[in-house]
Amino acid sequence: MEADIVIVGSGFFGLTIAERCANELGLKVLIVEKRSHIGGNAYSEADPKTGIEVHKYGAHLFHTSNERVWEYVNRFTSFTPYVHKVYTNHRGVVYSMPINLGTINQFFGAAYGPEEARALIQEQAGELSGKDPENLNDKGISLIGRPLYEAFIKEYTGKQWQTDPKELPASIISRLPVRYNYDNRYFNDTYEGLPTEGYTAWINKMVEHPNIEILTDTDFFDESQPYSKAALVGKKPVIYTGPLDKYFDYSQGALSWRTIDFETEYPECGDYQGTSVMNYADAEIPFTRIIEPRHFHPERDYPTDKTIIMKEYSRFAEANDEPYYPINSDKDREALLEYRRLAEQEDGVLFGGRLGTYQYLDMHMAIGSALTAFDNKVAPHFRDGKPLN
Ligand code: FDA
Repeated sequence: MEADIVIVGSGFFGLTIAERCANELGLKVLIVEKRSHIGGNAYSEADPKTGIEVHKYGAHLFHTSNERVWEYVNRFTSFTPYVHKVYTNHRGVVYSMPINLGTINQFFGAAYGPEEARALIQEQAGELSGKDPENLNDKGISLIGRPLYEAFIKEYTGKQWQTDPKELPASIISRLPVRYNYDNRYFNDTYEGLPTEGYTAWINKMVEHPNIEILTDTDFFDESQPYSKAALVGKKPVIYTGPLDKYFDYSQGALSWRTIDFETEYPECGDYQGTSVMNYADAEIPFTRIIEPRHFHPERDYPTDKTIIMKEYSRFAEANDEPYYPINSDKDREALLEYRRLAEQEDGVLFGGRLGTYQYLDMHMAIGSALTAFDNKVAPHFRDGKPLN
């Protein structure tokens, strides 16, 4: 196929642009994907031993308050009524998260009403008042008071960053949510749910168009294949959703990321923890949380005598690890400015998505930003000859 546009990466950003280009503009689209499957990090598959749908790159819960995104995604899948809730184990007792009146009353062994709880937390948060927090530890105390911060945030955050929060900048957190009611829904969005037939069915539906061709196991930087950076840039419009620093051969240094190691186990029971996500707040437990994917789909007929769980370990990403969460250190931010400047000068290439812009994006944000990029950049380029980037 002689493509009109080449899209590098088949995550939600790339897929949304591909779908819009084919359906809205009638363009021929080629998607080049390094992995053996499409879908980016939202990809899921049935675990061969249990048949339970597993999110290969970490738990993916769909939620949005964006009407346009909600209408758009419902063209490809329906959603179950799943409502995400998270619990945390601290010193062998389980509390609900984010911190709410239930958590507070359980933790302090009390029966406070909203106003009493608010007054207590305000008083405890006043411990360091008058001082600008110098590090994440002080910031946490000044937001929710020492007792709750030390129980639920301090050691968990230390595990996520492999660093004592006293050594982390205060800027990492701007707020810590506390709800003065018993609402323990994890997300505040208007819409929430999981794709009824799974992520892969949704993703496949997005590219079900004769004008869309997909090449998996194809690396954009591999010059031995015909759709490489060297072969395409300057000759075809390119949407690039791979790592920003890699595109420019790390000329401004490598941008830093955290990654997660998943340790899969098959406990000999039909239900290991009774819920999908259990955090472990304490430093003595080396993993940050356990995911039990069967609970994402209580409506499905999963086996009742076996289950699958994943323990998550957070660490700094090395060169060959999956980049998951941008670290955004001062050095990263300086390099990012330079990379953005270079990206603007790269005629005919539009950078998008979480890797292409070095920012954490939820799925609805990646889709929303792709819809906007399509409207503002891609469609005007093909309709009116405007520059792509
Ligand atoms: P994405 O990373 O999905 O896709 C980029 C694609 O480019 C990949 O398929 C990659 O292989 C490909 N690529 C890279 N380099 C290439 C090259 N050289 N050549 C060819 N292809 C190349 N969101 C949410 O809404 N709810 C949630 O619960 C979660 N949970 C979650 C957990 C974890 C651990 C992570 C890391 C992320 C989430 N997310 C999430 C975020 C979600 O994964 C994210 O919004 C989407 O992946 C963004 O889609 P993109 O297309 O931007 O990137």
